Amino acid sequence: MANHPQTVEDAAALLRAGGICAFPTETVYGLGAKARDSNAVLAIYETKQRPRFNPLIVHCADLGMARRFAQFTPLAERFAQVWPASLTLVLPLAEGAGLSDLVTAGLDTVGIRIPAHPLARDLIAEVGEPLAAPSANPSGRLSPTSAAQVKSLFADQVPVLDGGRAEAGVESTIISLIGDRPVQLRAGAMARDALEQQIGMPIPLAEEGAAIASPGMLASHYAPRARLRLNADAPGEGERYIGFGADPSGLAAANLSPSGDLREAAYNLFSVLHMLDDAGDAPIAVAPIPATGLGEAINDRLKRAAAPR
Ligand code: TXA
Ligand code: MG
Repeated sequence: MANHPQTVEDAAALLRAGGICAFPTETVYGLGAKARDSNAVLAIYETKQRPRFNPLIVHCADLGMARRFAQFTPLAERFAQVWPASLTLVLPLAEGAGLSDLVTAGLDTVGIRIPAHPLARDLIAEVGEPLAAPSANPSGRLSPTSAAQVKSLFADQVPVLDGGRAEAGVESTIISLIGDRPVQLRAGAMARDALEQQIGMPIPLAEEGAAIASPGMLASHYAPRARLRLNADAPGEGERYIGFGADPSGLAAANLSPSGDLREAAYNLFSVLHMLDDAGDAPIAVAPIPATGLGEAINDRLKRAAAPR
């Protein structure tokens, strides 16, 4: 059993000493290490068995810290006003930033985020430097939205700071500001239509397979062990059913949101998949989810969870 930190100070001490530690954010739990410490970052890749070409997000406590590691154009400054938020910005790496090359996977860009969860920001501030943190799951598995899930995913071998359940339940939205226009690389907890309104400009999707897309966006990802069938109006023979909205059949094993609320559905998504994953490997059928707002991220994760592997 890992020695789990009980306080932010304990977790910060672990991280300052070059260790890894899982911590809560409002999206999902992250597996953190000092972003400037190559040995610590290497331990993240090894623990997750993550391919080295897939760069990590650098989490900062505030804008002052973020500015030391990325270059902010006037457009980036506009997006940065949205922070702290479930929003990751891909920006040109600042000169002499001193990040481990492993964090950026050798790219000259960096994904930066100031998380909304106060415990996450307190932890980074207490460490005094940014934390590289991918989701705290073995590569390809479902992201954890609670400390208990992190413990279960890593057979209790990874220290976890418990901060309750992640409020948003899906990973951050990733926007690239490298080209002359913003492009969404990953749908996430910050709905694209809401962000477009806030920024006042359209944010198109990155083209499937485009060179600019996140190296981590492999087709099969976020996978439970069971086979998944999407847009199912009812369960088939031997299937377990995940409902959304009213379920007149009464056959659903779980419902993402009985009232049809997308925010609640995002919050419940990974927990429900974890729960069914732990309960067996009979195939799972999922009700149709609207494509608007947070539905974009929910459908993206479901599509990946259902992809052949
Ligand atoms: O909500 C989140 O973003 C969570 C919490 C812990 O903050 N973190 C997370 O990290 O989801 P991870 O490693 O599971 O996903 C990070 C994604 C990957 O798809 C990676 O390829 C992309 O961010 N990424 C990181 N740096 C990048 C860069 N410089 N250019 C393009 N994509 C980048
Ligand atoms: Mg991940």
